[in-house]
Amino acid sequence: MRAVEAVNNALRRVPSWAGYLAGLIPLAWLVWRIFTNDLGADPVKEVEHTLGKIALWFLVGGLCITPLRRFAGLNLLRFRRAAGLLAFLYVALHLVAWVVLDMGMLWAQAAADLIKRPYLFFGILAFAMLIPLAVTSNNASVRRLGRNWRRLHWLVYPAVLLGVVHYLWQMKVVSTEGWIWLAAVISLLAVRFWPKSRPGTR
Ligand code: HEM
Repeated sequence: MRAVEAVNNALRRVPSWAGYLAGLIPLAWLVWRIFTNDLGADPVKEVEHTLGKIALWFLVGGLCITPLRRFAGLNLLRFRRAAGLLAFLYVALHLVAWVVLDMGMLWAQAAADLIKRPYLFFGILAFAMLIPLAVTSNNASVRRLGRNWRRLHWLVYPAVLLGVVHYLWQMKVVSTEGWIWLAAVISLLAVRFWPKSRPGTR
């Protein structure tokens, strides 16, 4: 048996709730760091940044699932919904961290910050695009929306792109890591949208 089939067989025995549970480990780790005062000199920034980074991991990780199956035969489809919902959870917490911890729920200050740091709009737009996806991620919505569900879920692609642009823009100088994230997202989008060759055509 090929190694990938052995992995697929083993994964079939993993319940999908285990994916959600595993996805909450980074949150538990962050909470632990908060309670043990292990957030460095600027705890608010650290919380904000950690949540943003985890959100990006889940968003991009979710996008990897289809190419992994197509090119490597690895079947993680059962965990795609968990990846999407966890990404949404972490973006939402990232937003809450900004509103509550950074802005102190002062709306005038939040508005001024939005004007001062326009990349925040990109983040908010990305978050807004993820809302309908999270709301319609249940089986009933998949059945009710039919083909439109797939169409709606295309929103994930601009959302990830906006998320990564937001991430790069907030850096004073874009780091190597930033460029790697951008390259990864562009490659994943290219793989997704590259026209598939039909049998009999080249
Ligand atoms: C899909 C949506 C989003 C993604 C993927 C995302 C991701 C990120 C990432 C990766 C970082 C930098 C982390 C680091 O440097 O380690 C960041 C920073 C930040 N994000 Fe987001 N974010 C999103 C949406 C939002 C939203 C809705 C807000 C709220 C307005 C927001 C506010 C911020 C702030 C305030 C920072 C810190 C900027 C700074 O330190 O100057 N983000 N985000």
